[in-house]
Amino acid sequence: MLKDVALYSVEQFEGMRKAGRLAAQTLDFITPYVVPGVTTGKLDELLEQYMRDNGGIPATLGYRGYPKASCISANHIVCHGIPGDKVLYDGDIVNIDITPIVDGWYGDSSRMYFVGTPSVKAKRLVQNAYDAMMAGIRQAVIGNTMGDVGHAIEQCAKAERFSVVEDFCGHGVGRQFHLQPNVLNYGRKGEGMKIQEGMIFTVEPMVNFGGSATLVLSDGWTAITKDRSLSAQFEHTIGITKNGPEIFTLSPKGFDFPPYIDKK
Ligand code: MF3
Ligand code: CO
Ligand code: CO
Repeated sequence: MLKDVALYSVEQFEGMRKAGRLAAQTLDFITPYVVPGVTTGKLDELLEQYMRDNGGIPATLGYRGYPKASCISANHIVCHGIPGDKVLYDGDIVNIDITPIVDGWYGDSSRMYFVGTPSVKAKRLVQNAYDAMMAGIRQAVIGNTMGDVGHAIEQCAKAERFSVVEDFCGHGVGRQFHLQPNVLNYGRKGEGMKIQEGMIFTVEPMVNFGGSATLVLSDGWTAITKDRSLSAQFEHTIGITKNGPEIFTLSPKGFDFPPYIDKK
């Protein structure tokens, strides 16, 4: 099926660079605060303040009625965890997902954080989610298809007998939050939309320790694994260039995956 997908110019890429940079800087900034005893609500306050102080508007706030400036999803929460009174404990793994809007452009990114010292199995899952995202991004080149991206993600997770979430996917992004194309976390080589120069989309696989099934809680947002197994996710926003994928949300501090060690 043919779907409309926007192709962006070099100048428009510059808008995304700024938004993506602020997303990455915000995720860098929050790192030292993600410690045992902190509440997700406190982290959300800090994230909102940092985004606003640096020229960003949190896109999630009021998005389809979503109440907070970030999504914070610990342990068996797959995505869209609503920050609040929830306390983070030693050994938790937690995803923080933010989307600052800068000059009308949306920079969407998330990372996993270790709260204290997680189990070996939790660390393996987090590393795999990062590897799956990067495997997907490596396939995001002109002439490949979206199926190649999904296939690479799925293969990476399955190689360690983890599963990928099928109920949520990446998405086109630009001057709106969620656009075409859908970026599935699974797929077949050569299938789906052809990847073209100027496309902008997120790659954001969720990898589960157990099964792929998810449930949404009665708050209408919080998605969890049906079997309550651990889930991990990373997200970058990328743009397709002649020279390959450009990652707009790379960490200036080199905080690619945890543990995040500040070298300065
Ligand atoms: N940032 C999420 C994504 O990666 C979307 C969150 S929408 C919200 O697409 F409403 F839950 F915040
Ligand atoms: Co996204
Ligand atoms: Co996001």
